Amino acid sequence: MKLLVCGKGGSGKSTVAVLLVKSLKNRGLRVLLVDADESNVGLGRLLGSSDTSSLLDSLGGKKDLQQKMMKAFPMGKPLELFSKRWSVADIPRGCLSQTDGVQIMAIGKIQHFGEGCACPMGALAKAFLCNLDPAFDEVVVIDAEAGIEHFGRGLETGCDMILAIVDPTHESILLAQKIGELAKTAGKDLYFIWNKVSPEVEKVLSRYMNEDRVLARIPQDLTIFVESLEGRPLTAGLFQIEQISDFIIQTIEHAR
Ligand SMILES: Nc1ncnc2c1ncn2[C@@H]1O[C@H](COP(=O)(O)OP(=O)(O)OP(=O)(O)O)[C@@H](O)[C@H]1O
Ligand SMILES: [Mg+2]
Repeated sequence: MKLLVCGKGGSGKSTVAVLLVKSLKNRGLRVLLVDADESNVGLGRLLGSSDTSSLLDSLGGKKDLQQKMMKAFPMGKPLELFSKRWSVADIPRGCLSQTDGVQIMAIGKIQHFGEGCACPMGALAKAFLCNLDPAFDEVVVIDAEAGIEHFGRGLETGCDMILAIVDPTHESILLAQKIGELAKTAGKDLYFIWNKVSPEVEKVLSRYMNEDRVLARIPQDLTIFVESLEGRPLTAGLFQIEQISDFIIQTIEHAR
């Protein structure tokens, strides 16, 4: 199962992705957290990992990948890397780190002034996910970059389910509508997670959004906020995250 976590900037994608992989791992599943955000650098820390290597580094770096892409493009050929099927065990060890039984890897990060856009990272993320075949008891959780560029690129082609995080802002409501349209076109199952909400705020949100596809309503939690502020691993055990895990496990069992 490959799960994409997406949504507006700052809505709580990384927070939910980290808490979810921890919960799924505690339920006995093998989990891989994929950092597909080329800008932010704090995901590993929220999990307790300080490793900063990436798949892009393991494959020779951005320039090398760019050259290979340019060479293959005029001939209309996919790169060999882009047509190879992967299992989680095939991922280069150098870009994986393990913390508390959770594996984490990054696709690649912007590092230098003037190095160019993040398109190679986007292309690599799509190729990697489209060709990744997790085993039935493996869940790959992908923490996407903010917004919907990944939909434009078609990253969702390589995912089985989309979880869109909605924080209580009007921008998030509008983005949720757009994500709904895009996920439908992509033919992917989409569920929403309301984050940083209170019962009063939920009442307001429910006037603007259909609640049928809302999997969980996560409250504003001071422990999450402070741990995140200090760059410490997240420790919160929230029943709302367990609700999401229950749903994912049911979906996996149903598909077997
Ligand atoms: N349920 C919550 N309770 C309290 N604080 C939260 C909660 N969810 C997220 N936050 C806080 O909101 C901020 C943004 O969270 P997070 O980094 O997970 O968002 P994001 O969507 O991944 O952001 P970005 O778009 O920058 O990647 C952080 O300070 C985080 O601690
Ligand atoms: Mg994030």
